[in-house]
Amino acid sequence: HGTSRINEKGHLEIGGCDTVELAKQFGTPLYVYDETLIRNICRAYKQAFEESGLRYQVGYASKAFCTLAMCRLAVEEGLSLDVVSVGELHTAVQAGFPVERIHFHGNNKTPDEIKYALEVGIGEFVVDNFYELELLGAMASEAGKTATILLRVTPGIEAHTHEYISTGQEDSKFGFDVGSGQAQEAILSALETKGVRLAGLHSHIGSQIFETEGFAAAIGRVADLYEWTAQKAGVTLTKINVGGGFGIRYKDEDTPLTPQEYVRAIADAVKSEFALRGLEFPEVIIEPGRSIVGAAGTTLYTVGSTKTIPGVRKYVAVNGGMTDNPRPALYQAEYEAILANRASDPAVETVSIAGKCCESGDMLIWDIELPEVKAGDILAVSCTGAYNYSMASNYNRIGRPAVVFVKDGKADLVVKRESLQDLIQYDLIPERMKVGSL
Ligand code: LLP
Repeated sequence: HGTSRINEKGHLEIGGCDTVELAKQFGTPLYVYDETLIRNICRAYKQAFEESGLRYQVGYASKAFCTLAMCRLAVEEGLSLDVVSVGELHTAVQAGFPVERIHFHGNNKTPDEIKYALEVGIGEFVVDNFYELELLGAMASEAGKTATILLRVTPGIEAHTHEYISTGQEDSKFGFDVGSGQAQEAILSALETKGVRLAGLHSHIGSQIFETEGFAAAIGRVADLYEWTAQKAGVTLTKINVGGGFGIRYKDEDTPLTPQEYVRAIADAVKSEFALRGLEFPEVIIEPGRSIVGAAGTTLYTVGSTKTIPGVRKYVAVNGGMTDNPRPALYQAEYEAILANRASDPAVETVSIAGKCCESGDMLIWDIELPEVKAGDILAVSCTGAYNYSMASNYNRIGRPAVVFVKDGKADLVVKRESLQDLIQYDLIPERMKVGSL
């Protein structure tokens, strides 16, 4: 996928860069991002909306991978941005992200976070609950501002990879429930709250979704609320945010749709559901995270120890693991990998890839076919661009890897590797424990 290929030396190449050279130059573990692939996906989402004729925003859910360079890329591609904490917001602001295109999510925004967001003047707050509605209204009024808001509703549609489940009510920590009438109550309440202006509704039905029926069903339920609002309060809501959740191919058997297919299905559902109710078409916002950066990321590791239990299994340990990719341990997520330094060698053995953390659960891949693996080989795990760096930890006091963007044969370091000194930079020793040498 993307710009990766196997070069004349039999090495994996991404963005015109030999990954074996990247490993030498930047060290491992290393997150390598195919910048061209990210840009092409951003453009595909936008292009599909252009064809729909609807007003739209393609937001990038920065929780998937948030750094200054990634925010710059999103600015250059004309995206909007979904942030869920003041940390993500600050990153975006420091990257020069146009604040009017920033959308602030989260089920428990703190007063400090709201204050920061009001001060910089972000485009929209996606209000999750009554507590936040009141708090935001009061803080905005106090500051002499009016915050534009969407209300997050839970329409009782739960999407799974291959199906969606429709329930009257949704038992979720997020949003105003539609089935119980909470969403309707929230709409009326928002319309009366000083300091906020209600522009529309938001729903997000899940992640790594391979089909479009769930989106269409959610759009139908949400359109009901636009009709209800028009009739009950005489107010026309002008925006709809249908969330993210578009799937990617981690494994061969995964069957995601293309950006075009997801957008077309969403645009068609918005058109038909709104036309059916005699409502004007709203501006449509999507906010994919995984599908923008997931497939573009590859993690390079160096192989170290191996352990063979005769007749049972060969463990191959790499110099990273759950600290740089917690998804296998957290979600039993599965990944594909190849040997970057012998990418065209045939597979001859089945091995399991272990991380270096001190716990048995730190396994990256079970049972993968590879050429004979030896210490010093470079293992490339694909599709690690989303929710890897952003969920990385310092467990076992392991530093977070560096991140490079590759494009047209050039590699740019966009996040430095954490040094030993970085790992202790926030530690303090109480005066009474200090010894002479410290
Ligand atoms: N919008 C909202 C309101 C969300 O909660 C999420 C993801 C997104 C957009 C972006 O969804 P995406 O397009 O990336 O699927 N850590 C998990 C995924 C958590 C997703 C949380 N919300 C993982 O590694 O699979």
